[in-house]
Amino acid sequence: MNKSERKTRVPRSMELYERAMRVIPGGTQLISRRPNRVAYGVSPVYASRAKGARFWDVDGFEYIDWISGIGSILLGYADPVVDDAVQKQICLGAIYSVNHELEVELAEELCRSIPCAEMVRYAKCGGEACAMAVRIARGVTGRDKILFCGYHGWHDWYIAANLAEEASLNSHLFPGIEPTGVPRGLAGTALPFSYGNLDELSELLEKNKGQVAAIIMEPLRSSMPPDGYLAGVKTLCADHGAIFIMDEITAGIRYSTGGAQQYLGVIPDMAVFAKSISNGYPMGVVVGKREFMEPASRMFISSTYWSDTIGLRATLSTLNEVRRRDVPGQLQKFGAGLKRGLKVVANEVGLDVGCIGNDVMPMLQFSIDDQNLKNQAVTLYIQEMAKRGCHGYASFYLNAAQGEAELGQTLQAARETFIIIRDGIAGKRVADLLECSVQKDAFRRLVK
Ligand SMILES: Cc1ncc(COP(=O)(O)O)c(C=O)c1O
Repeated sequence: MNKSERKTRVPRSMELYERAMRVIPGGTQLISRRPNRVAYGVSPVYASRAKGARFWDVDGFEYIDWISGIGSILLGYADPVVDDAVQKQICLGAIYSVNHELEVELAEELCRSIPCAEMVRYAKCGGEACAMAVRIARGVTGRDKILFCGYHGWHDWYIAANLAEEASLNSHLFPGIEPTGVPRGLAGTALPFSYGNLDELSELLEKNKGQVAAIIMEPLRSSMPPDGYLAGVKTLCADHGAIFIMDEITAGIRYSTGGAQQYLGVIPDMAVFAKSISNGYPMGVVVGKREFMEPASRMFISSTYWSDTIGLRATLSTLNEVRRRDVPGQLQKFGAGLKRGLKVVANEVGLDVGCIGNDVMPMLQFSIDDQNLKNQAVTLYIQEMAKRGCHGYASFYLNAAQGEAELGQTLQAARETFIIIRDGIAGKRVADLLECSVQKDAFRRLVK
């Protein structure tokens, strides 16, 4: 039977997706939520509810969620403390014609906890916060060019990088992404650089001397930066009069309550946070030193929903809980245990798969030379884990609700899955074992 004719394991999900494709261009709002990112027709596409470390899909299956809301859930789904605070806030009004004191309270809290924060602006999501930081940096310096390293959202300033002749983003992020709809006049204003290479960055700055407003980059994701690298970036910024912006949207308070900048001991001029800071409620923040943030008061940066009380309350409550429960410490410990457990299982099964990366963001690494076979093995892993109630990629977004039960179930599922992959490789049957097409890793990242 052809794979596309095979009966799906998740009929209700697939029926909804077909309906979505008729009325929603692209089917989903976020590329990472497209079903071809996981095991198409096997993995869930639509959830009906979630609690703690788990969610239930529209076909009635229960899953441990190893993607944690694409990184937006840090305490666990429907966290009782945050949700109670939000529910109380809803009863007092979600938004007003005037401001609410939470806006000031949260700004003061962020200034206390994040080393570079002396002033704060709000947004509703990560890409928007990045666009705001870039606007401020251009306004402060009077320069247009931005050097970047990492993923920073969907806005024109960023996708403009692909207007360049050699399609700069192709080698970094979405292979083949088209800058359709981005003004051609922005060509040459956003230039990517490779992570870890100070010489390349220095050359790029020299080549664009006096024109670079800012360097924006993810400080780290799953691996530690090379020794002295981020301090080197900071020095280069200072030498060239460019503003150093850390994009902490994914790393952020996973590593420390003061962000990756506190964890790594390198303090940027500005930083952006979103996702995990509000445990799933829409919120983004731009923070920075007074000299760079204050001029924003004279720029047009304004929106109705940036001061809604739900996002403010959720963020304040999430930050309090992350500190009170020492979530970064908890994730380190849990992630170390997960890595250890997966290595033991892989060893016992006799499959050459490692579990690498920092403890708070572990990922599996299949040692398979043939790239096609490796892609098939990763898809088989996602497929078989989904069938055993574990939803994820071959990497893990941890959250604080994951505990011993999730660890035990996941290690048991991994054992069975690793055996299937091992035998599939030995019998040259990996492709036959797939009940779906090979997963599309649309999101090739520059910062690992
Ligand atoms: C580092 C980084 N920057 C920016 C973004 C964009 O955030 P959002 O999807 O909330 O617009 C993301 C999202 O994955 C991210 O990981």
